[in-house]
Amino acid sequence: MRTSQPQTIYLSDYKVPAYLVDTVDLRFELFEDGARVHSTLAIRRNPDSQESAAPLELDGDSLVLESVALDGTALSDGDYENRGEQLVIRSVPERFSLSVVTWIEPQNNTRLEGLYKSSGMFCTQCEAEGFRCITFFPDRPDVMARFRTRIEADREAYPVLLSNGNDVDRGELDDGRHFVTWEDPFPKPCYLFALVAGDLVEKRDTFTTCSGRDIDLRMYVEPRNAEKCDHAMDSLKRSMRWDEDVYGREYDLDIFMIVAVDDFNMGAMENKGLNIFNSSCVLASQETATDLAFQRIEAIVAHEYFHNWSGNRVTCRDWFQLSLKEGFTVFRDSQFSADMGSPTVKRIEDVTLLRTAQFAEDGGPMAHPVRPASYMEISNFYTLTIYEKGAEVVRMIHTLLGPDLFRKGSDLYFQRHDGQAVTTDDFVRAMEDASGRDLSQFRLWYEQAGTPVLTVSDEFDEGRGVYRLTIEQTIPDTPGQSNKKPQHIPFALGLLGSDGQPLPLRLSGDETEAPTERVLELTEGVHTFEFHGIPSEPVPSLLRHFSAPVRVRYPWTREQMLFLMNHDPDGFNRWDAGQRLAVDVIQRLIGSPDDAAIDPRLVEAYRKLITDTGLDQALVAKMLQLPSEAYLIELAESADVPAIHRARERVLEHLAVALRDELVACYQRQHDSGAYEVTPEAIARRSLRNTALGWLLMINDDEGRALAVRQLNEADNMTDRMGALRALVNSDYEADRRQALDDFYDRFRDDPQVVEQWFSVQAASDRAGQLSDIEQLLVHPAFDWKNPNKIRSVIGSFAGQNLAAFHNPDGSGYRFLADQVCRLDDSNPQIAARLVTPLTRWRKFAPAYSSQMQSALERIRDKEGLSRDVYEVVHKSLAG
Ligand code: BES
Ligand code: ZN
Repeated sequence: MRTSQPQTIYLSDYKVPAYLVDTVDLRFELFEDGARVHSTLAIRRNPDSQESAAPLELDGDSLVLESVALDGTALSDGDYENRGEQLVIRSVPERFSLSVVTWIEPQNNTRLEGLYKSSGMFCTQCEAEGFRCITFFPDRPDVMARFRTRIEADREAYPVLLSNGNDVDRGELDDGRHFVTWEDPFPKPCYLFALVAGDLVEKRDTFTTCSGRDIDLRMYVEPRNAEKCDHAMDSLKRSMRWDEDVYGREYDLDIFMIVAVDDFNMGAMENKGLNIFNSSCVLASQETATDLAFQRIEAIVAHEYFHNWSGNRVTCRDWFQLSLKEGFTVFRDSQFSADMGSPTVKRIEDVTLLRTAQFAEDGGPMAHPVRPASYMEISNFYTLTIYEKGAEVVRMIHTLLGPDLFRKGSDLYFQRHDGQAVTTDDFVRAMEDASGRDLSQFRLWYEQAGTPVLTVSDEFDEGRGVYRLTIEQTIPDTPGQSNKKPQHIPFALGLLGSDGQPLPLRLSGDETEAPTERVLELTEGVHTFEFHGIPSEPVPSLLRHFSAPVRVRYPWTREQMLFLMNHDPDGFNRWDAGQRLAVDVIQRLIGSPDDAAIDPRLVEAYRKLITDTGLDQALVAKMLQLPSEAYLIELAESADVPAIHRARERVLEHLAVALRDELVACYQRQHDSGAYEVTPEAIARRSLRNTALGWLLMINDDEGRALAVRQLNEADNMTDRMGALRALVNSDYEADRRQALDDFYDRFRDDPQVVEQWFSVQAASDRAGQLSDIEQLLVHPAFDWKNPNKIRSVIGSFAGQNLAAFHNPDGSGYRFLADQVCRLDDSNPQIAARLVTPLTRWRKFAPAYSSQMQSALERIRDKEGLSRDVYEVVHKSLAG
């Protein structure tokens, strides 16, 4: 663990590597008490490096060094320096071979970085800097080498031995051991290296590429999960076809493998030819996975597969460029999901996450640009800004260029940089060169942190038929950045006439037929646009499809919100108008004791949504979800969470009481008689049904209760089962809740992914998840401090979703979280650092809360031997 103050790494200090590695030859001897790693590297000086006399420096972490040899001659102690985190050899020839033997202990590796054991199998996680926990190596993504890997292990315990590329040799060894050798023909950075050894079943399929090559598809899972692979396999085949159709990208190896492991810090990892997944992000069956899980699995399988081009064939020069692969790949997987289901619904989901969580990050102490300028611990920078805002930035390029030029740009990018480690700037340049557009101002999206605010005002000149729109852009200060320059913002809009019809948008100087939707390009601090030929005062539909990751301020009236909710041709803005109305109603209720303040027009709008079966039911299912507490907090100046929670509940109850009969009818109508399907229509049906059920139980409706109990017992799928369980858990029917939870656990106790959902539904509930309940869950036999999913499902769900309990005015929720972070910091610092997130936003809350959150952060800060991961998050949060 850390001995000195963590260092800050700066982008401006980037230097090309002094040495390159052409080939890596690895031999792993896997044992129960440890593993010996033999590594032979073919190294040469980098002709592009200015430092001709630089020593060779290799990174290492928690390694026992057994021997070093240069060109076959063993080095003695004086020839090299083992500084623990670095192995330094002062004088080396132009070109040489270096052999290093290290000893590691995967069985004691609780950080889950490098090589570790999970439920009896060996597996690796090398991104971002885990390879250095396996052997000494220049652990940076701009060093790309060809890997050959031989794995040796006991044949009975580890019949399956996997690594990247193709298996080229296998055989028997003494003592019941065997080996397999793998060769990856593509040069890659070490963060894409992977190894798996275990007793796993293999599921096979094939995919024929557009050029007619047959690819072997293989999934490896523990025997008990053999029946949970079909959905991921189908998702993989759809992803492979889609990347060919939409980006012209074909898979390049003969084998593509997916492995499921239970203990995994992240969701999944794109190792070349050998993707490793968190079990919860890949295994699914109708009985055990919800619709949400099915959709998530499809998206993650696609995401990791898409990295084969956006990340692996073209990789990052350094970790400051992380969004080059993650932002672009999230954009690609969200396009894919939109194509597989409902584009509007997918957009709503993405924007909800962005506006709730990324905007909060961008407005808090951890705010950073899409391409950061510095970091202490790179693991802390796998953020919503890198991922979601990064994807929005690529999406804006797509909007500005249009699909055809964007495709030309991506073709040029892949062609120009195949086999290279590049920067976000290289990506933008390819887009510029292919399209002829100037994106120099656009590049500020990568450099400036903070969410731009657009203040919109309008006036209508009835006499001239002119509608004038003024848009002012400001970007708030963020840590280390002030006085920002205006950014290049694509702003999509439409105007609706009083009859709800879209109006032609004719700007002064327009000659041709005017479209009813336009993308305005904002580049200055203030712009004014004049639309001509407007017959009567229009209602503006602003920032359609959420065409840029910005906040829009406009003095909406409730009439306008209701009008857009009913008439906007853009489904996204219809949904957004409904959200805005609900936010307005809830905000007005905070601090007002009188439910009469609840606008009856909101009730009528919801009545229409529930009863009008002619509407797009997938959109209706989304429109019925009230804005989350987290979003309401994000919008607040000085949040009082229990007050927000109560106001939101009162609106929900008011709606449920007023619409009680309609909800029962809706529930009955959505009854599914046919076989279970995961189509957008069926998902919408289940979602509507479960929303109706949840609302009925909110108001302690006895018929609702009976429906929930019946649904829980008769459901043939996890979505309905979980919907009923959640409704009961969040109700006042305490005996039913207890019974339902116990029965559910008894039925699914042997399935870790279902037990995680069971933990989470309780920890996230203000009824079943009070602090004393959470403490009970932590000592439950199924809880496991070494398993990140269990930690997330209890502690993460409590602090991230059970907001009223977490923000208990007595500060107990904060102290609890601080204690758990300190406890986890020793065993798994990455997970510990992520758990701190809810506390980092302390300045957002009313003083009575924020001061106690600050104390909780200080309590963590003062822990002895804090990891670099938690150190960075806590110190940055407290600073300023
Ligand atoms: N490359 C990442 C996995 C990763 C993240 C490894 C951080 C090491 C540190 C992978 O491609 C990824 O982004 N996974 C996401 C899921 C994805 C659908 C956004 C994850 O694991 O959450
Ligand atoms: Zn990724």
